[in-house]
Amino acid sequence: MAIVSFPSSILKVTNLAKSFGGVKAINDVSFIVREGTVTGLIGPNGAGKSSVVNAISGFTRVDRGVVELAGHDITNQAPHRIAARGLIRSFQIARELQKLTVLENMMVAPFQQLGESPWRALISRRAVMREEREHLAAAVDWLQMFNLFPLRDEYAGNLSGGQKKLLELARALMAKPKVVLLDEPMAGVNPTLAKTLQGYISRLRDQGVTFLLIEHNLSVVEAICDHVVVLAEGAVLAEGQMNELRETEEVISAYLGG
Ligand SMILES: Nc1ncnc2c1ncn2[C@@H]1O[C@H](COP(=O)(O)OP(=O)(O)OP(=O)(O)O)[C@@H](O)[C@H]1O
Ligand SMILES: [Mg+2]
Repeated sequence: MAIVSFPSSILKVTNLAKSFGGVKAINDVSFIVREGTVTGLIGPNGAGKSSVVNAISGFTRVDRGVVELAGHDITNQAPHRIAARGLIRSFQIARELQKLTVLENMMVAPFQQLGESPWRALISRRAVMREEREHLAAAVDWLQMFNLFPLRDEYAGNLSGGQKKLLELARALMAKPKVVLLDEPMAGVNPTLAKTLQGYISRLRDQGVTFLLIEHNLSVVEAICDHVVVLAEGAVLAEGQMNELRETEEVISAYLGG
């Protein structure tokens, strides 16, 4: 019998639950994200997708359940600690970062810098400088990949909406993330850029980056997701490949509000 190699799970969510007042935003959700895949999280408005991503990344405290990243329990840890463990959320560029250049944005990306550790005084200046050189090299590589290198000295605030999206993704990658969480990265983006982003996500996945992606456009989901988890009313309704899910009765009725 042939041995089929199956990527192992890098992110595991077990029996997650969260209520806001009387609303069960997350109601006993379990799923895994396999390493090196793009896993889609879909479902109608109010299904609980953002709540799940917020819970996984530490921005919402859960009432119940466990979140494991690469075998470590990260449930309800502070967002910066979760990020330091390699689970990175791509965010809109915050206001203060708009006043930094594109390259500066990359260099202050949320990674663990030797130079910022409490042991700073004990670490040789040389080690800090070597680390900075490595970060600079990585920043230049990512900016080139995303065609942002010519804009390296431009203020982030002056970039177009699309260029900002690319910078957000590039910044997330500076942390060498184990998993990147994207909550509707294509929302409000023109079709050309949406295609470009799609291409980048697929390419990065082929390079070994793992994504959990919330996306409303099911054609995009079908094009780039290896596996899809469907949420409805805070619970997992179905999972599988998008082309199969499209034919699934429950999924169809959830989307049509039936
Ligand atoms: N901070 C909050 N306070 C109160 N209720 C909330 C909060 N966050 C989410 N909810 C509620 O939890 C439910 C799930 O919301 P959530 O934003 O997770 O859904 P979603 O699937 O991301 O929806 P959308 O597709 O519209 O982004 C909704 O009923 C929402 O009103
Ligand atoms: Mg949402």
